[in-house]
Amino acid sequence: MEITLRIRRFNPDKDKKPYWGTYVLKGCEGTNRVLELLHRVKWEQDGTLSLRRSCAQGICGSDAMRINGRNRLACKVLAQEFGENPTIQVEPILGLKVIKDLIVDMEPFFDHYKAVMPYFVNDSQPPVNAEGEPRERLQTIEDRERFDDTTKCILCAACTTSCPSFWANGDYVGPAAVVQAHRFIFDSRDQGTKQRLDVLSDPDGVWRCRTIYNCTPACPRGIEVTRAIGEVKQAIVKGKRD
Ligand code: SF4
Ligand code: F3S
Ligand code: FES
Repeated sequence: MEITLRIRRFNPDKDKKPYWGTYVLKGCEGTNRVLELLHRVKWEQDGTLSLRRSCAQGICGSDAMRINGRNRLACKVLAQEFGENPTIQVEPILGLKVIKDLIVDMEPFFDHYKAVMPYFVNDSQPPVNAEGEPRERLQTIEDRERFDDTTKCILCAACTTSCPSFWANGDYVGPAAVVQAHRFIFDSRDQGTKQRLDVLSDPDGVWRCRTIYNCTPACPRGIEVTRAIGEVKQAIVKGKRD
């Protein structure tokens, strides 16, 4: 099988603007992943091609990119999805500054992530066991299931960078940060909900979501992103009524 990769290239040190590079790969298999194809281009044809990747198993979230117009993890996409001898187009994710080729500046994304306090908050003394030693804070199976979906996030940014509201305004906290906030807001052991909801009530918070729904199908972990955003919106409204 022969595969043609069209890759959006840009090196700010020498290119005035991005351009498409075309690379033909012979002897490919349908079971090759797009990440492997990119490696072949880098190792066999042009060592200057720049991309991020680590685990190659859909776990680390570092190789989100736009593949034939959709945000995907390159390590999870098989070539056979695109038919016989296909042309596959690969671009950096949108809405974040391109540093080089397929690598974007993730700092604004992680700034939004940090803003929602993505960590457990509880300053009360932990419970003690029969010997008087601290032990874990328990919760019911139902309480744990309440936020199970949003624990699966791997911070790949595929959702946020597929959101037109984020493209229009990079100050929007974005769906990934809301998913991370959701994971703690609905944890029965956490006490930071009010502060998180205050952050998300900001004009650049959760209300910039117009329920466009690009984010949910973009999520490689199958998280119901739009549903989580809706639940956080409801929590804000409910908090205002209380
Ligand atoms: Fe990636 Fe899904 Fe997390 Fe968004 S919610 S950052 S798409 S894993
Ligand atoms: Fe954007 Fe998803 Fe809302 S695509 S507008 S965050 S439903
Ligand atoms: Fe880690 Fe793809 S390389 S998710």
